[in-house]
Amino acid sequence: MGKNTTITDLPENLPEHIGFIMDGNGRWAKKRMMPRKFGHVEGAKTFKKIVRYCRDIGIRCISFYAFSTENWKRPDDEVHAIMNLFRQYIDECRQYFLEETRIVFLGDKSVLADDLRQKMIDIENDTKDYHEMTLLLAINYGGRDEIVHAAKTAALKVKSGEISADDITEDLFSRYLYTADYPDVDLLIRPSGEMRLSNYLIWQCAYSEFYFSDVLWPDFTPDELKKALVEYAGRSRRFGGV
Ligand code: IPE
Ligand code: IPE
Ligand code: MG
Repeated sequence: MGKNTTITDLPENLPEHIGFIMDGNGRWAKKRMMPRKFGHVEGAKTFKKIVRYCRDIGIRCISFYAFSTENWKRPDDEVHAIMNLFRQYIDECRQYFLEETRIVFLGDKSVLADDLRQKMIDIENDTKDYHEMTLLLAINYGGRDEIVHAAKTAALKVKSGEISADDITEDLFSRYLYTADYPDVDLLIRPSGEMRLSNYLIWQCAYSEFYFSDVLWPDFTPDELKKALVEYAGRSRRFGGV
């Protein structure tokens, strides 16, 4: 495959929603004796390449874990550098308007800096009528936090009489998640050798196929993604059936 990544030799059965846990930026930088934030800068470049590739091959929905509710534990200067990369990306990504990509953020925006939150809300509004592809970006996202948030929404609706407790089904509950309008994750990809979800889309990954790779995220390429797509196409998804 090498440099000549083409879209012609892809399997037919592609996932509708691919989730990416972008991991390994810090180790990538450490290997080069650089501060961790340089790893995040490189990781952002990979992210843009992978978004473009997914768009080219017609994936309908892609999600990226960019910052978890637990990542606030990191040193202030690293958190600050990551938040600045988000600002920069949102400014740049207006180019995707032409490509009919809807941008939606998953996570609790309320604790983010005012200017960043406003940029996020603006880009969500400006892309809300685009349906060709949806790019879900998880920022200050935690799966448990999301479920608690949805449970509170349900509780308030019961309290106000809008719904009854018996109305709460899996379907209704999933309408209260950040991903209400989007399909569950079909293929979850985590590079960097870690084999865990780290609180990513824990409800939506109930029946996902997992693909783990040792490549660090800044080194992840469309060819790596292609390997995952080929493996995915060969898996037998049974959803509890036979
Ligand atoms: C993922 O890379 C990016 C974020 C969590 C923001 P890491 O920063 O976790 O990289 P490693 O795991 O330390 O190598
Ligand atoms: C998960 O990676 C979060 C993101 C990729 C944004 P972490 O690096 O924070 O996960 P752990 O701590 O290794 O589980
Ligand atoms: Mg990590």
